[in-house]
Amino acid sequence: MARGFLKGLRPWSNYAVRPCGRVPWTIREFEEVESTNDVARRLAEQGAGDRLVVAAERQTGGRGRAGRSWTSEHGGLYLSVVLLPPPRPDRPGLLPLAAGLAVSRAAARFDAPARVKWPNDVEVGRAKLAGILVEASWSGPRPWAVVGVGLNVKNPVPAGGARLADFAAGASLAHARDAVLAELDAALAELEKDPDALCRKWERQSSTVGARVRAESLAAGAVEGIAAGLDGDGALLVRTEAGTRRIVAGDVLHLRPVEP
Ligand code: BTN
Repeated sequence: MARGFLKGLRPWSNYAVRPCGRVPWTIREFEEVESTNDVARRLAEQGAGDRLVVAAERQTGGRGRAGRSWTSEHGGLYLSVVLLPPPRPDRPGLLPLAAGLAVSRAAARFDAPARVKWPNDVEVGRAKLAGILVEASWSGPRPWAVVGVGLNVKNPVPAGGARLADFAAGASLAHARDAVLAELDAALAELEKDPDALCRKWERQSSTVGARVRAESLAAGAVEGIAAGLDGDGALLVRTEAGTRRIVAGDVLHLRPVEP
C-alpha cells in the first residue's frame, strides 16, 4: 500500500482499544503531523478501516472551522477518527453535534463543567476548551467521515481559553484520549439508535439554547434572536422578531451570545 505521504512521519505506536466490548478503535500515534484530519483522510483513502484514530503530539498545520487554524502545541489532545461508513447519512448535520456532546461529557469526567456551544465548540463558561472539525463525503460508493477533536489538556492556551488541567491537575493525555474515545463511542451509538433523543440531550447540555445570540451566516447574513433549539438535521432555530430563522452550521462564521 502506498504510504508516501507518511514518509518522515514516525508513528510511535499502533494498537487497538476496545471500549466496553464494542467495535475497537485502532490508534496510530505520531509525534508531529501537519493535521491529523489530513493524515486520517489520506489513510482512509488508502484503505484504512472503520474507527482508525490518528493522534499526534503536535500539529504544524492544525485546521479549525471556517478556514481558521488551530494552534496545536505540546500538551493538547489532537486526534481524528475515521468513520466508514459514517452514522446516519440521512442526517449528516448531527455528527458534529454528537462529537461535541461526547467531548463535553469526556471533559466532565475531569470535573470540567463543560457545555456545548452550537455548532460544536466545547466551552467552560465563555472559555473554549475544545473544538471539533468534521469533514465528510456522505455519498458515492464509499462514504466516509473524519471527526477531528482538539482538546486543551495541559497545553498553553491564550487568555480566554480553558484546559482540563485547570480542573483536574493530574489530567494526562492518555486519560483524556481514552475518555474522548469512550464517550464518542457512546454518542455514536446514541446517534445511530435515536437521533432525536440525541438532539434533546445536546440541547440540555448546551449554553446556546435559550440564550440571545447573533449569528453571522454566509447564507442568511446577520441573524439575532433567541436560540430556540435544534431541528432534526442539527440546524439552529433562532426566534427573531421577523419569525424563526434556520441557521446551518456550514454557513456560520460566528455565533456569539448577546447580552440582553
Ligand atoms: C474549531 O473549533 O475551529 C475546530 C478545531 C478542530 C481542531 C482539531 S485538532 C485535531 C484535528 N486536526 C485538525 O487539523 N483539526 C482538528
